Amino acid sequence: MSILLSSLLSPLLWNIVLCTPLPPIDIRAPFFGPAERGGSMLTNDTYSKLGEPLNVIISGLSSPEVLTRQGFVNFARAIGFSTECMGMHIGAPQWANLGDGHGRMAQMIELREHFNEMNFGTCVETLVGGNHLRVYRQDGPRAQSNALFLAVSQEESILRAHTISPDGYNWGRDRLVSAAIGSTSFDGVTYFTTAENISGLLPTGWENVNHNISQDGVVKLLTVHVTERLFVNRPAFVLNPLFVHPFLLPQILLVALGVAITSRLARRPFFNSGAE
Ligand SMILES: *[C@@H]1O[C@H](CO)[C@@H](O)[C@H](O)[C@H]1NC(C)=O
Ligand SMILES: *[C@@H]1O[C@H](CO)[C@@H](O)[C@H](O)[C@H]1NC(C)=O
Ligand SMILES: *[C@@H]1O[C@H](CO)[C@@H](O)[C@H](O)[C@H]1NC(C)=O
Repeated sequence: MSILLSSLLSPLLWNIVLCTPLPPIDIRAPFFGPAERGGSMLTNDTYSKLGEPLNVIISGLSSPEVLTRQGFVNFARAIGFSTECMGMHIGAPQWANLGDGHGRMAQMIELREHFNEMNFGTCVETLVGGNHLRVYRQDGPRAQSNALFLAVSQEESILRAHTISPDGYNWGRDRLVSAAIGSTSFDGVTYFTTAENISGLLPTGWENVNHNISQDGVVKLLTVHVTERLFVNRPAFVLNPLFVHPFLLPQILLVALGVAITSRLARRPFFNSGAE
């Protein structure tokens, strides 16, 4: 009885009883370490059971719009990435468990280098290789940072079955970071990005890493702030497939060639073993 009385007298309980608002709990965090919550800093490839390192984190303390799917795609366009070639996706999605209570989740989106050509540049990447990334959001009930975890890697051309380049994890990450830091903009939105190194989160080396490519275990934490917006209340940039560009025709021919090569390669057994 006395326990009941004293708990009734506790300020917390009185707050609830009297319906006065409690001070807000600030749970905003740059990210929560996945490994200490049963997750992993490696993605999981269904075929090889190995993974790609989640080597870049977009901090949960970034401007909230950057952490949404559409907002991230706009930022990604500002730093050299775009959606995949005409919506085509080559290779199976990979999974990640960020320890946020959602368990294994498929990638939210996969983006490729656009070579400064928004409509068809990623088709060129699909053929000749380049930088690419997969995105996972840490937004489950046990670790709701809303941080985006990116698996970034530089990959080879379609002729080499899109395998990761030698040192492709470190190289891809560093290329993305150098494109991102400082001031960038796309479609009227200007961003300012800072980077810091996080070590001890991702194990160094090649163990469990897809294609047995060693990486240095450094995770880059990017904090992205929207600093200027030219257009307010306007629909976001939409890719116009009819946009006439001087390189349009050669690019379509390249894509057709790539599709032809892919379908030939797909009949060979090696193409299915751990291709991206
Ligand atoms: C991927 O998942 C499988 C189980 O489905 C597990 O055996 C394997 O260790 C995981 N790989 C990595 C890199 O976590
Ligand atoms: C950050 O990590 C990179 C390796 O990715 C290293 O070259 C650089 O010196 C590190 N910077 C700091 C400030 O520790
Ligand atoms: C991966 O590469 C390392 C050297 O970097 C080598 O010692 C190891 O045997 C390789 N593992 C596999 C499974 O190929």
